[in-house]
Amino acid sequence: TGTTGPALTSLGFKPVAKSLADKVIVPEGYTAQIIYALGDPLVAGVPAFKNDGTDTAFDQRAGDHHDGMEWFGLDASGKPSNSFNSRGILAVNHEATTDEKLSSFFIHANGGASTLPRPASEVDKELAIHGLSFVEVQSSGKQWAYKASSPFNRRVTSMTTAAIHGPARGSEHLVTKFSNDATQCRGTLNNCGTGKTPWGTFVSGEENWYGYFFRDAKDDDARKKDKQVQALNRYGRKAGAASRHGWESAGPQDQYVRWNNSAHAASAKADYRNEMNTFGYVVEMDAYDTQAPMRKRTGLGRFAHESVAFAKPQAGQPIVCYMGDDARGEYIYKFVSDAKWDPKDASPANRLAAGDKYLDKGTLFVARFKGDGSGEWVELSMKNPVIANSSYFEFKSDADVAIFTRLAADAVSATKMDRPEWGGVHPITGEVYITLTNNSSRTAATTDAVNPRVYTDMKGSTEQKGNVHGHIVRMADASPAGAAFKWDIYVFGAEADADKSTVNLSNLTDENDMSAPDGLVFSPATGICWIQTDDGAYTDKTNCMMLAAIPGKLGDGGARTVKHGDKTVTTYAGKTPTPTTLARFLVGPRGCEITGWCETPDGRAMFVNIQHPGEGTAMADVNDPAKYQSQWPTNAGYGAGKRPRSATIVITKNDGGVLGT
Ligand code: FEO
Ligand code: CA
Ligand code: CA
Ligand code: CA
Repeated sequence: TGTTGPALTSLGFKPVAKSLADKVIVPEGYTAQIIYALGDPLVAGVPAFKNDGTDTAFDQRAGDHHDGMEWFGLDASGKPSNSFNSRGILAVNHEATTDEKLSSFFIHANGGASTLPRPASEVDKELAIHGLSFVEVQSSGKQWAYKASSPFNRRVTSMTTAAIHGPARGSEHLVTKFSNDATQCRGTLNNCGTGKTPWGTFVSGEENWYGYFFRDAKDDDARKKDKQVQALNRYGRKAGAASRHGWESAGPQDQYVRWNNSAHAASAKADYRNEMNTFGYVVEMDAYDTQAPMRKRTGLGRFAHESVAFAKPQAGQPIVCYMGDDARGEYIYKFVSDAKWDPKDASPANRLAAGDKYLDKGTLFVARFKGDGSGEWVELSMKNPVIANSSYFEFKSDADVAIFTRLAADAVSATKMDRPEWGGVHPITGEVYITLTNNSSRTAATTDAVNPRVYTDMKGSTEQKGNVHGHIVRMADASPAGAAFKWDIYVFGAEADADKSTVNLSNLTDENDMSAPDGLVFSPATGICWIQTDDGAYTDKTNCMMLAAIPGKLGDGGARTVKHGDKTVTTYAGKTPTPTTLARFLVGPRGCEITGWCETPDGRAMFVNIQHPGEGTAMADVNDPAKYQSQWPTNAGYGAGKRPRSATIVITKNDGGVLGT
């Protein structure tokens, strides 16, 4: 079973087989228990979830699409603790909803309305079901359960007031009818990956927020002299763009019209043309204080944020964190604080004040990879003349860089990646691992050393082109705050029986083959790297999964070539994994994605989210359970009704041992 602790050299469980069953599968000797699902009450007096589309009061219930998640320990007396193992607060992202034709159909009776205008009663539920939840969980010694009426329970929704912090605070581009001085905004949206700061707070990335906004077909004309038209297009909101749920259509009230991102009043102070600019950030919360405000940390840039991976803090050195922008051809970023780490801040009197200290002032960098296995972090600020003098986009200040970050990264010719998702920092080597989940837009002509793979013929795959299965890039900074790095590719996702010279480059086997890595977290207790998939390409053979990895270090493989017709790309691949260094640990129910990972400090209880089981169900079948793609978790005995629900599970070893070892 190997040693425990971050020096672990061999995984200690029997890998689970690929599966299409509608259940959670974990290795022999392990148990998975469902503890916290969509709609579960968080406040005393809120009725049990009926799960038939009639439930209301979602601002007092668990939200939908559980995603990234972090553990905040409590001791027996309810004080913050990093060593107590049977009581804590889970901070959970509620990314989105299972939807079709505007409606989040599993939370509405008969599936809801699929035409505009959307009924206000349905939109009110959808506004409340997005955001974050903080929920107390505890173990009796035998079983874990969430507490339905803990004073630590809290919901944050798309309507919760937030304070704008960092360089964009007060910017003209954040002026709205709600906050004429651009110091406040409302809500957090499409929260995807997470992070835990060295000072003990929760951070959450706002990912696909732009899809929630409507833009009038004539909005470009209305904004003729507004440089934002270029930015709106770059961020995926062309004039005439419809919104994902039609929230803007539900009525004339402020909470609905704020989703209309068009300029129609005399000035930005009287409409919501800038509302979209108030999303796309990392938000910081204090999980231990239900009264603490939400802060948008604009210094970390505005893009489709996934997770925030903090390097191990070192006394007297800046705080460093790594972030991916999850869209096709987007970039990898790093933030370096101005303030130097004071170890006393590991347990500060005021956690959000520590966040102000380390996250409000600093420098954002974007990664430029070179073909020789090296790379460079390029500064994104007005100090970089390429940005200050850019003819591509007019940057007037560091606030503009913080708000229009993608354009700043374009201006310095950063490397376009195959959808950067979660990042993790290896507890011993300090090397950074970032999942590149897949990229259907990658072509043979645009392959490069760090995005070297495309398919032209994927038999049995639902997705036929681009980098279908994704890969995981590994980076080593020469110094924490420095510009130079080295990189290689830890592993390429692939089907085990695929061609080993063009597709299955990492020689994956039945024990560890996978597609579309997304979640990635290193266990502080064991050093195991947990990898989670969000896949649409291998789902004819297996549901999404979680694997455990002991990933070695940069440079442990070597250069290798990949051929695309006439073109040959040279890349750098890690040492070939074996079933004792990379193995499938869990397979989820049908239609789900596996995401979110945290554990108790002793590494003996692990929390994982099963996101959107049954996502492939048609809205027309909402009242016909026999046609649901999944009936999990009710088919596992959890809760009422048959509609599938996103949920948190806890995994323990039957002998009480440390997970994965
Ligand atoms: Fe929400 Fe990039 O996954
Ligand atoms: Ca994700
Ligand atoms: Ca994903
Ligand atoms: Ca998903």
